[in-house]
Amino acid sequence: MNPKTLSQSKPSDLDAFMLECQARVEPALDRWLPSPDTTPEILHKAMRYSVLGGGKRVRPMLVYATGIALGVDMRGLDGPACAVELIHSYSLIHDDLPAMDNDELRRGRATCHVAFDEATALLAGDALQSLAFYILSHDPRLSIVADTRLRMIEALALASGSRGMAGGQAIDLASVGKTLSVTELENMHIHKTGALIRSSVLLGAYATTEVTDEQIKRLSHFANCIGLAFQIRDDILDIEGDTHTLGKTQGKDIAMDKPTYPSLIGLEAAREKAEDLYQRALKSLSDLDQRADMLRRIAEFIIVRPS
Ligand code: IPE
Ligand code: IPE
Ligand code: MG
Ligand code: MG
Ligand code: MG
Repeated sequence: MNPKTLSQSKPSDLDAFMLECQARVEPALDRWLPSPDTTPEILHKAMRYSVLGGGKRVRPMLVYATGIALGVDMRGLDGPACAVELIHSYSLIHDDLPAMDNDELRRGRATCHVAFDEATALLAGDALQSLAFYILSHDPRLSIVADTRLRMIEALALASGSRGMAGGQAIDLASVGKTLSVTELENMHIHKTGALIRSSVLLGAYATTEVTDEQIKRLSHFANCIGLAFQIRDDILDIEGDTHTLGKTQGKDIAMDKPTYPSLIGLEAAREKAEDLYQRALKSLSDLDQRADMLRRIAEFIIVRPS
């Protein structure tokens, strides 16, 4: 199956869902982020600048789509959607720092440390991380029992830390200029990007007590496949995308001598790997009815997206 053909056949339902998710999550993020007029103004401005400055909001979409697949009302999912997007935004601020990828463009604008300064960018990332956990522990609109709240906090904490995103970033930094095996590269991608994608799906699933262990297992498998596919597509776009569409500087991976899927196995094999992961992701949703269609569409979007 050619995913490009598929995506051209029904563009509108995913576009409409994306807009619906953005229309929910943007104002919710705006409400949770401290006002730029409150002290310390510079930090609050930097936090708002980085979070509210665009982004596809794929992780919130996954929270909502997973909840919908299991019959959860979208209104109850705004908090978890915001929490995972805040962790993601923090990871981007730190990823762009001179000590890491040294990028000056993000989401079509100057990176946080360029628009502000490095110390403020570090603190903005720190504070966004704390805000994410504050939301999960405090959000009064999240009508779940305390045990479920803890389950969500645990999932997001594990996904963000040294056994998740931060660990993957450490592997990424240690891999510059090295030739990794495919297994090592996959391990890096699963951690630096896959972990947060997986937690987005888990947060959506945990929002209902009706979810079974078997469903969690299958959804986890789905998320692992699309999480790896997401970073493979990111690696491909770094080669064949353009800076304007990406909103970040194209060609940075080669310039920084980063090991990526295309650098290791070639562009065509990287595309095939992403397509294979997409097919495997779809299979793991086979027990879910049409309410899971948006999850299926997001999986497809992940491997064909232009940015
Ligand atoms: C970019 O993530 C960083 C990776 C984990 C590959 P996104 O492509 O989701 O970035 P935004 O949020 O849309 O800017
Ligand atoms: C980013 O990977 C992963 C995280 C931010 C955790 P990249 O370094 O490839 O992301 P981009 O390409 O800068 O968005
Ligand atoms: Mg990086
Ligand atoms: Mg980067
Ligand atoms: Mg990249």
